[in-house]
Amino acid sequence: MNKKVTVVGAGNVGATAAQRLAEKELCDVVLIDIIEGVPQGKALDLAEAAPIEKHDARLTGANSYEASANSDIVIITAGIPRKPGMSRDDLLATNRKIIKSVTREVVRYSPQAILIIVSNPLDAMCHVAIEESGFAKNKVIGMAGVLDSARFRAFIAAELNVSVENIQALVLGGHGDTMVPLPRFSTVAGVPITELLDSEKIADLVKRTRNGGAEIVNLLKTGSAYYAPASAAVEMAAAILKDKKKILPCAAYLNGEYGINGLFVGVPVKLGSAGIEQIVCLNLTEEEKKALAHSAAAVQELVDAMKKMGE
Ligand code: NAI
Ligand code: 2OP
Repeated sequence: MNKKVTVVGAGNVGATAAQRLAEKELCDVVLIDIIEGVPQGKALDLAEAAPIEKHDARLTGANSYEASANSDIVIITAGIPRKPGMSRDDLLATNRKIIKSVTREVVRYSPQAILIIVSNPLDAMCHVAIEESGFAKNKVIGMAGVLDSARFRAFIAAELNVSVENIQALVLGGHGDTMVPLPRFSTVAGVPITELLDSEKIADLVKRTRNGGAEIVNLLKTGSAYYAPASAAVEMAAAILKDKKKILPCAAYLNGEYGINGLFVGVPVKLGSAGIEQIVCLNLTEEEKKALAHSAAAVQELVDAMKKMGE
């Protein structure tokens, strides 16, 4: 039997993730959305592309959760995206309500699933999902670091005119303006970029990475990025479905690691069939530790703000 992944939210990120999951023939895919006809229509359209794309993944669209029963993974992209002039944090109150109700339904039908959260503000929405699901911390994972690191990698590759395949990069922290790109751990064919680019150029690339989401919002004007975000969520899902033991930067619930307690923050983790199988602890410099603590404090602020909102 094929593995099964449900994608909640059949909008830009969700539908693109469904397409990538199916075209890579990783699993059967169920698309769920509140808008009648949209998940059904997109699933049917993707299924009709299957003979050309040459895959046998089964695609289903639905407005209720019965179709999602016994999913191995549920990717949650439901919510409203950021519009120009809107910060990720403005989304807090609306998306919190959406993630609460979605998680409740997801868990009812797939109590064993691993949750990959995409909706913004990302780190805060991971808190909502873990609380509402009651799942263990290895089974609720936030997508941000893979995307932010991919942006950093793309910018480094363009700057040095080398293949993106030669670039590894690491961005830790919350998915917001305080994220922490780590040049010391970012390499070109194994060589740290700190040996290849001057500090001013690196600072420019770091700034562009931090601003990566907003750069796309300002260009699109009617929504936010979705091709790269979908790729990032699917890379995480693939690592879990194939039990790859792949190290990727993801938002994980920390219990003392990096000196952070009871908070979702982006750190390198090992992803396999159990979800987060290990949190990888790097030896950070004092400056890097400070930047990560600053980023964690920004996540804590959102979590505190949600606590004040009540039910
Ligand atoms: P979109 O507007 O294209 O799609 C969102 C979909 O969610 C819509 O189809 C909407 O009908 C649906 N939805 C709303 N409430 C729902 C509910 N209760 N149940 C089921 N579906 C519901 O937005 P897009 O571009 O796909 O972004 C989705 C979310 O992902 C946003 O919150 C966005 O900010 C976030 N995002 C996060 C990224 C990250 O790095 N973590 C990257 C890109 C987007
Ligand atoms: C991004 O980074 C909007 O969080 C989303 O593109």
